[in-house]
Amino acid sequence: MCLVEPGGKKLTIARFNGRIFAFAHKCPHASGIMADGYINAAGQVTCPLHRYRFDMQNGRNTSGEGYFLKVFKAEKREDGIYIGLEDKGFWGLL
Ligand code: FES
Repeated sequence: MCLVEPGGKKLTIARFNGRIFAFAHKCPHASGIMADGYINAAGQVTCPLHRYRFDMQNGRNTSGEGYFLKVFKAEKREDGIYIGLEDKGFWGLL
């Protein structure tokens, strides 16, 4: 895993079994830095602070605490990795 900052937005990029995943920089529980965690054998990202686990594809909290990790579409192409980011909206607040 690593931290990237496309367009000024911090994200975590992870590679697992040849696939690329993109998700939030900070954990939804108490802002643990997700890139400092690890991916378990089942392909779930584990937060380094309290070890909550999340599905990297849909953000579901697989350890059962009821949180949701923001995930983004990610795709590896010949010329690089592409991440689907949302528009910032009218006020640029998103
Ligand atoms: S901050 Fe991530 S599990 Fe608590």
